Amino acid sequence: MIKAMTAAVLRRKFIDFFKRHGHAEIKSAPLVPENDPTCLFTTAGMHPLVPFLLGEKHPAGQRLTDVQKCLRTGDIDEVGDPFHLTFFEMLGNWSLGDYFKAEAIAMSYEFLTAELGFGPEQIKVTCFAGDENSPRDNEAAAYWRQHGIPEQNITFLGKKDNWWGPAGQTGPCGPDTEMFVPLDRPDCGPDCGPACGCGKWVEIWNDVFMQYNKTADGQYVPLEKPNVDTGMGVERVTAFMQGVRSAYETELFRGIFAKIMALAGNPEANHTSRSARIVAEHLRASTFLIGDGVKPSNVDQGYVLRRLIRRAIREARKLGITEMFTTSVADVVIAEYGDVYQELRQNADFIRDELRREEDQFGKTLENGTREFNKLVDKFPPHLENKVISGRKAFNLYETYGFPLELTQEMAAERGFTVDEKGFQEEYAKHQELSRAGAMQKFKGGLADQSDRTAALHTATHLLHKALRTVLNENVAQAGSNITAERLRFDFTYEDKMTPEQIAQAEAIVNAQISRDLPVTCEEMSLEEAKKRGAIGLFESKYGEVVKLYTIGDFSMEICGGPHAPRTGGMGHFRILKEESSSRGVRRIKAVLE
Ligand code: ALA
Repeated sequence: MIKAMTAAVLRRKFIDFFKRHGHAEIKSAPLVPENDPTCLFTTAGMHPLVPFLLGEKHPAGQRLTDVQKCLRTGDIDEVGDPFHLTFFEMLGNWSLGDYFKAEAIAMSYEFLTAELGFGPEQIKVTCFAGDENSPRDNEAAAYWRQHGIPEQNITFLGKKDNWWGPAGQTGPCGPDTEMFVPLDRPDCGPDCGPACGCGKWVEIWNDVFMQYNKTADGQYVPLEKPNVDTGMGVERVTAFMQGVRSAYETELFRGIFAKIMALAGNPEANHTSRSARIVAEHLRASTFLIGDGVKPSNVDQGYVLRRLIRRAIREARKLGITEMFTTSVADVVIAEYGDVYQELRQNADFIRDELRREEDQFGKTLENGTREFNKLVDKFPPHLENKVISGRKAFNLYETYGFPLELTQEMAAERGFTVDEKGFQEEYAKHQELSRAGAMQKFKGGLADQSDRTAALHTATHLLHKALRTVLNENVAQAGSNITAERLRFDFTYEDKMTPEQIAQAEAIVNAQISRDLPVTCEEMSLEEAKKRGAIGLFESKYGEVVKLYTIGDFSMEICGGPHAPRTGGMGHFRILKEESSSRGVRRIKAVLE
């Protein structure tokens, strides 16, 4: 018998089951990948484990399990229908060079039958059909058969369906076997199954057999030790176990909808309303993103966050919510998820502050921007086919009223218009050029006795310092620094020679921050205050002394005398020339901006 259960019970059952099978429970990593500047968000449970799937030793051992916060933006525009989500939780178990197909399938089978209550005849599985890179996975199919999955419930499919990874452009990947269970409705025909696409068979788990490392030139290089990576979506499985079609109908969203209904004063602002679903989903995701330190901005993660919050605010207006409301929805998310994800409680004030600020800022211009948009659209003759809003107009809405391009596109679509996206990007690029030129000018003007190269290298040193703490460890500390107009030299405490991968990662992190065009700001305060804020740097000053705290966007906070570049954009490309020993326990890096 299928056992109805809440998400809390499902999480606990899964983790406890794998702990009983010798797995160590690890904590969910943040939504922003710590060591992968090529991806904006953590998109799967395996993502934070990539170095370990490639052979590095994990401190917790070779068998791991967790529930991981994930965010995928690919379907962001679909959110509003009953099914799509940006934020979701993924349960997983991993073998890092330990067990492989036989045990992975045995454990999946046992969990599905003994813990969730499925009968073998209710489970359909798919296995990899084989191609030029990897053979047909008869082995996985044989294990399923041994456990009693009927022959007609096993299907072989190609790479599109039964291959997973890499998460980014390169990295661990391999064939997978996916598990499906049926919705309570008739088959669509004699061949109804995972491949028919009628939607009756719901994928609830994926076991990936990570045997390859896909390299930048597209080769599949066999890994020395193969791994297992699995993923089970909490929202989807919870809904299935409760016999409802959508996560929005489960307790995962119940409290959030209750709050939205109360704010709107309308019982119909519930899980059946498209606007209410968008408000609920986007603010749940936003709460988690801010909880992991993301702030609304115009680049990268911050831009996605801004899009989510602003879209939620606009949809809330449609429900009749006109007062400030985002923090009260976030409070429900924090209360309901705080036990599993403690960072939400720890960062509750920060979450509220950022939401309030963004809502205040956008709330002030939303009405005017909407009026401007309507004026624009009303000017078009009603019978015109092919109605297009120009790039310049869309950019004006972006710049003056803070409408993310996607919001304008959505509003346009509601009125039967499209937006000239290419034109928008051109306007955007033109504007970037102008503001960069402005920044450089200011930069030159303010630096009478230092060349701008030296100041930029100072700023690059801060970025490097922070990057080294990310790539190596948090204890890396500055042991010396020397800057000329040509290069920087940075000494830091660390025992080992850096590997080429670590050097490449540090470079990539610094360059990612340069391309984010982050503002560099300076504040004066007591050393104690700077330390309290979490600044890094040399704490040699005397008690009570005033120090300068340089902050680079949301990335770095360091005590320093300066001078610095006004922004990171336009600093050039950062390259490490040399990494060598300086003295015992101290390494030295020489690097340039090209
Ligand atoms: N990494 C696999 C997935 O996301 C398990 O489906």
